[in-house]
This record gives sequence, structure tokens and C-alpha cells, in this order.
Amino acid sequence: MKSVFSSPRALLWLAALGCVAVFLGVVVTLGLAPNSPQTRQDTSSGTSLIGGPFTLVDHTGQVRSHTDFLGKYSLIYFGYTYCPDVCPSALGIMTQALGQLDEAQLAKVQPLFITFDPERDTVEALEGYVSLFHPKLIGLTGTIEQTKAAAKAYRIYYAKSERDDSSDYLMDHTSLLYLMAPNGEYLKHFSEADGVAGLADFLKQTL
Ligand code: NI
Repeated sequence: MKSVFSSPRALLWLAALGCVAVFLGVVVTLGLAPNSPQTRQDTSSGTSLIGGPFTLVDHTGQVRSHTDFLGKYSLIYFGYTYCPDVCPSALGIMTQALGQLDEAQLAKVQPLFITFDPERDTVEALEGYVSLFHPKLIGLTGTIEQTKAAAKAYRIYYAKSERDDSSDYLMDHTSLLYLMAPNGEYLKHFSEADGVAGLADFLKQTL
């Protein structure tokens, strides 16, 4: 095994952590803004900056909107199926954490994988991908505009990283797993640093 600090994967995670730091900075700045009390009158909590309506298509071809998932907790991860490392790693953590829940807890949570690469992540591509991780995992894709709007609502950064030698491309992106409440409001987010135990423990306490 190579040193963790020299591996490309570690660098990707450092980049992701950088995005998280910037994101948290934005949240703190907005929260401390002088007019925030007035702003907050419009929302039921200071954390509702994350999340919102979306209309997408699931991995079976059914149109799905955010309202379809109200009434249960949602675990939402944004990614793309061609991702060589970060997405499979994060989804693997989710899979293992879900594996620690009992049947009643599992019934209260819906895991969702939303792509920001709909050009390659078709309904068929998602169908094969989600089955690798969990039988309950629902894959969601859509038009470029639809997936862009969903990612924006959840404050997810992503960008193509073009390569001259190939028509293939990788994508830089935020890697966060969001736990949303049954009413659709943001509850908490998890990164790879939380690990399986961090995610599983919180889910067991909450569900
Ligand atoms: Ni990825």
C-alpha cells in the first residue's frame, strides 16, 4: 500500500475537504450576517439553505419529485457513475452503515443517488450502478437543467475535468452525504471522515 498522503485518492479527498471548508465558511457567514434574524423569519431553521424541490427520473424510468420522498428520512448523495474512487467509496460507507440498521430503522430511510453527469448517467446506466450498492438505493437522473437545479439546491459543486487525449472525462465534485428529515428539511451531512461508524451511530440514534 502506498502512503495515504501520496495517493491520488487522498488528494481528491483533500480537495473535497477544501470544498467543505469553503461551504461551511459560507454557512457561517450567512448565519452571522447582520440581517439574518429577518432572513430567518422566512424559514423554520437556519439549516434550510440545503435542499429543495426537484423533478428527476429514477433508474426504472419513473418521474420522481422531492415530494415522493417526504414522510421518510432521505440519505442523499450526488455523484456520477464513472467516478473511479470518491463516489464508490462514499456509497460504500453508506452501504455498510445501512447494513447495521435493523429492519424497522431501514424502513424509515430512503437512500438516493443523484447524478450531475446525466449525459453519461442514463436510466440504464443508473440501474446497473445502484444495484451494486444497496437494494433500496434509488438512482436519479434527468436533463442537464434538471440535475443542475438539484445539485444547486443542495449546494453541490461539480465540474468536468477535461482531458485532451480522450473523449472520457472525470469530474471534480463535492462529496457529502446528506440526511434529510421526513419533512424535507436538512438534518446533517457526513463526509468520508465520519466513517461507517459515525454514519451508522447517528442513523441508529435518529431513526
Ligand atoms: Ni465521485
